Amino acid sequence: MSIAIIGGSGLDQLQEEAGLEPIYQQTPFGEHSQGVCKLNIGNTPVVFLPRHGKDHHLPPHKVNYRANMWLLKSLGITKIVAMNVVGGITDEMSPRTLLVPHQVIDYTWGREHTYFDGLHHDTPFIDKYVDHIDFTQPYSEALRQRIIGFLDQSKINHVNYGVYGCTQGPRLESAAEVQRLQNDGCHIVGMTAMPETALAKELEMDYASLGLVVNWAPGIAAEELSFGEIMQLVSEEMAHVQTFLPDLLEFLTLQH
Ligand code: HPA
Repeated sequence: MSIAIIGGSGLDQLQEEAGLEPIYQQTPFGEHSQGVCKLNIGNTPVVFLPRHGKDHHLPPHKVNYRANMWLLKSLGITKIVAMNVVGGITDEMSPRTLLVPHQVIDYTWGREHTYFDGLHHDTPFIDKYVDHIDFTQPYSEALRQRIIGFLDQSKINHVNYGVYGCTQGPRLESAAEVQRLQNDGCHIVGMTAMPETALAKELEMDYASLGLVVNWAPGIAAEELSFGEIMQLVSEEMAHVQTFLPDLLEFLTLQH
C-alpha cells in the first residue's frame, strides 16, 4: 500500500524539515502545487504533497487539484489522508476540535473539478470521455473507520463525523452565508475539500480527511475573526497532529 499525506495550512513545512527536494513531474493537467516528496514519517514511507505549495503561495481557489491528484495516482498512491483546517459551525465543532468528516457540500465555483470533461479519454488512468462517479459517500468509509479506530484506541479526542461545507474563498464567509450553511446541515466550513475529494474518487484512490477546527465560523461567535489568532491555532493544532501522525500512519499501514 502506498500512502500519501496532503498537507494543508500549517503542515507545508514538513518537507523542508526533512531536508528533501521535491519531486517535480509533468502532468497532463498542468502545474501541480509544488511537487511532492517521499519521506519517512516514523517508520512509514509516505508521499507528502503540500497543497498550497512550499511557501503557501497558492490560495484554495488557485490550487490545481487535478494536477495534484493525478500526480499522486501516477506515483502509485492508493490511500490519501488529507489535512483540512476549517471553521466550526455547530456546538460540537468548537476551536481545537479534531474531526473525521463524512460528508461534503460543494459551494465552490470555477475550479477544474473533474477528469471526465470530455477531453481526456486517452490520458493514463482516465479512459472515458464522460463518467458520472457515485459520490453518495464522498470519503472512503473504510479509511475513515480505520482513522477513527486509531483515534479511539489512542484516546485522542475527536468527533467521528462532520458535514464539510466547502466555500470558494479566499475571503471568509459572511454571517448570513454561515447561517445558510448551517441550515443546509453543514457542521464545518473550509475551502479545500472540493474538488480534491471528488477527484480522488474519480481516480479510485481511497481518501479521507482529518479536519482541524481553528476558529468559530463567521457570525457563530460574537467577535470578528482575527487572522493572527487563526494562524496561531493552525500551528498549534498541526503540532498536535504531528505528535500522533507517525503512529497513525503505522496503524493504517499495518492494517493491510
Ligand atoms: N471559513 C472558511 N475556511 C476556513 C475557516 C472558515 O471560518 N477557517 C479555516 N478555514
